[in-house]
Amino acid sequence: MKKSFLLALALAFGTQLAPAQTQPAKLVPPATPQYRPSYHFTPAAHWMNDPNGMVYVNGTYHLFFQHYPEGMEWGPMHWGHATSRDLVSWQEQAIALFPDKLGMIFSGSAVLDANNTAGFGKNALVAIFTYHNPDEEKKNTNKHQYQGLAYSLDEGKTWTKYTANPVLPNPGIQDFRDPKVSWNPVAKQWVMTLATKDRITFYGSPNLKTWTKLSEFGEKLGAHGGVWECPDLFPLTLGGKTYWVLLVSINPGGPNGGSATQYFVGQFDGKTFTPTTTTKKWIDWGKDNYAGVTWANTGVRKIFLGWMSNWEYANQVPTSPWRSAMTAPRDLALRQVGPEIYLTSTLAPELAKLAQPAQKLTNLTVKNELSLAGKLQNPGPQFQLKMSTQQLQEFQLVLGNAQGEELVIGFDKAKNEYYIDRSKVGDNSFSPKFAGRALGPRLATGPAADLTLLFDAASVEVFADGGLTTLTDIFFPRQPLTTLHLRAPAGLTVETLTCARLKGK
Ligand code: FRU
Repeated sequence: MKKSFLLALALAFGTQLAPAQTQPAKLVPPATPQYRPSYHFTPAAHWMNDPNGMVYVNGTYHLFFQHYPEGMEWGPMHWGHATSRDLVSWQEQAIALFPDKLGMIFSGSAVLDANNTAGFGKNALVAIFTYHNPDEEKKNTNKHQYQGLAYSLDEGKTWTKYTANPVLPNPGIQDFRDPKVSWNPVAKQWVMTLATKDRITFYGSPNLKTWTKLSEFGEKLGAHGGVWECPDLFPLTLGGKTYWVLLVSINPGGPNGGSATQYFVGQFDGKTFTPTTTTKKWIDWGKDNYAGVTWANTGVRKIFLGWMSNWEYANQVPTSPWRSAMTAPRDLALRQVGPEIYLTSTLAPELAKLAQPAQKLTNLTVKNELSLAGKLQNPGPQFQLKMSTQQLQEFQLVLGNAQGEELVIGFDKAKNEYYIDRSKVGDNSFSPKFAGRALGPRLATGPAADLTLLFDAASVEVFADGGLTTLTDIFFPRQPLTTLHLRAPAGLTVETLTCARLKGK
């Protein structure tokens, strides 16, 4: 992201402190309701980036998010707030956290402090976030990011900043941000996973207020094409054994350019994280899944949500009056393939309640090209498509329209890679980095394959081989994509293909 430029812009207008000061009138581009997703969260208006403070309390999923409520580009950060009881229908709530004299409110997490360890009150929700202070930044001491707390005693409706902020001052590390905190059963204390420039630093605390450094991880491991951001650490079991998963977003340096989220699988002994292997792994190979983390307080279930954009062009995407959506919620699990343990992502089952009765085709034989027009009713802009084959071959699934636009989801047999190609759909001139093909390796072995594709107006999420390879891309067609073709130069038999319209708003 061109943060320094945007920051300069924000500073030129004066950093806003709550309540917002008067702004010069801004040009709002014409509205684009056709790109508004139905079941993916978007703010009603203005800028959004990372999901923050995701916590599940009393049947409600809270989603806070990086938000600039005065404009459609990144600006002085607030925490917006949305809630859902089913992960599918979201209600935007009042802004939770405003910038203050300590700085803007960058990314972070929230916990339910059931035992009142912090002393804010039993069952307080405690947000742990990064303050980013532009005035300090100008001093070039590298101490302008530090961690603060806020708490809520009414399940997230209103928030009070802790008077003794910051709780974790900066020792002089330029990028020192995005605390993800959870109660760690091994350490028997709160553990903060913090992105510290090119590595992760773990801190421990009995009370969320005093933090002690435990260890560092990753200086020479994993991908390092950009700064490390937005980590998360959580346990998952495989074959009765517990592993710890460490998510680390990086920007730039993603496998297809720009922003992406890598992960490590290993052990955490309460102090130190040790990866099982050093293979580079990505939670999603598409261009548009960044800064994702998991919900707190969901027990053994780990539900992941990412920001469905990429800093390469997030500030330019042609939507109005909002910018950016979140991904669909995904359940994470582990799967062993050869010597490696990978994460799988599958759609949260709650999404199934949107599905209308599915149209089902069986034993489709594709020779060169097969139009599905006479076989499937046009499902509209929101649908889920599943297909399976016993013998995976080179293929393309093409969504098109009368204007000749094509969104292509395919498998390249020679390279053993799945891909999404959006180069021929929409006017992509808003950024030279947008058009193109995002590739993700096939990690599953064996000839049988399955794919689940989720469409919502301007996004596609691809879950291949039970979610072992995942790709997420946004796209902006000039006209709705209404035709569906399968292409397979060497032939392909699709055992089953089901297509279900998803209920819109
Ligand atoms: C990731 C990120 C975080 C930061 C936030 C600022 O997208 O750069 O590291 O806290 O966005 O909005």
